[in-house]
Amino acid sequence: MSNTASHTLSFTRWLSPLVDEATFDFYARRINPTWRWSRVICRVTKIEPVAADMLAFTLKPNGNWRGFEAGQHLQVYAEINGVRHSRSYSMTNTPNPAGEIQFAVKRVPGGLVSNWLHDKLKTGDHIEIGQAFGTQKLPCNQPLLLVAGGSGITPVMSWLQHLAHRYQHADVVLLQYARDAATLPFQQQLAQIAAKMPNFTLQTILTDHPGQPPIVFDDQQLTQRVPDAQRRAAFACGPSSLTSAVRQVWQARGYTQPLLTEAFSPPALPDNSSVHPVALSYSRSGKQQQGSSGVNLLQQAEAHGLKPANGCRMGICFSCVCKKESGTVTNLLTGETSSEPGEMIRLCVSTPVSDVTLDL
Ligand code: FES
Repeated sequence: MSNTASHTLSFTRWLSPLVDEATFDFYARRINPTWRWSRVICRVTKIEPVAADMLAFTLKPNGNWRGFEAGQHLQVYAEINGVRHSRSYSMTNTPNPAGEIQFAVKRVPGGLVSNWLHDKLKTGDHIEIGQAFGTQKLPCNQPLLLVAGGSGITPVMSWLQHLAHRYQHADVVLLQYARDAATLPFQQQLAQIAAKMPNFTLQTILTDHPGQPPIVFDDQQLTQRVPDAQRRAAFACGPSSLTSAVRQVWQARGYTQPLLTEAFSPPALPDNSSVHPVALSYSRSGKQQQGSSGVNLLQQAEAHGLKPANGCRMGICFSCVCKKESGTVTNLLTGETSSEPGEMIRLCVSTPVSDVTLDL
């Protein structure tokens, strides 16, 4: 914990018999826009384009921020037309003496929060974030293959900055996918990393070419571009179509080196032929509903008027973890099933196989 954070903690502990958090925050924000009891408020110090459709935001958080590690994510909160929304993004830098955080946002057509961040948030504004989360750890002491599609480059940037700082001689190949040259993010920053890391190789793959089917990751491409893939630990991040393609090739080849994947889109749902009705029960609220094995449990609970905690809605942030009291569910990310009573599951990536009771 930083000195500032520990000072803030002692200060709020000293104040706690005298005033509650909401009252403290109400008055403190009038004196200084970043002062809060426990919430993390940041000043936006820089906004820069890193591709035609992507901006990188640099933030200076208040003393409640507990720091982060390379490859972690954060929740960003935005009040839009009086309604509070949140989205998960990945840090694109590494811990640094200035104590700054950087995250990047791709503009999503029709996306509420991404368009608000692009169009409304300005340098000098203040924004709230949650504490860093995510536990993926790259093995830094062996050759690596990084595969990034679209905004999947964001946690990869954080890893690369970490390697460039601590392991300059690491042997790393990055396969970076984007629709076209304009949407290929972080090219300038990757060139700077390449200048520091003699054994870093960047291969960019533009997927969209007029009149041709899109180029996708497959076995043949891996052979051509990374002939020594077998000796590399791998990390793939991007749309679930990309991460599953990498996982399939890895499994088909029987590779034993570790493979980590992080999908930046909700996992595919079961095909319609295997979908059947199930009974869903919610023990705390006493509610019940006729559900479906073809929809994730988060969406089904919300459709029934419940409001389970959630964040990324794609299995990354663990905000939606909930106790399953009975029944069997499938994890859409791993294909594993959970049948034991009392197991904790992520609602956003779990579909029911049988009747299920949740602690909601
Ligand atoms: S909402 Fe992030 S893991 Fe479910």
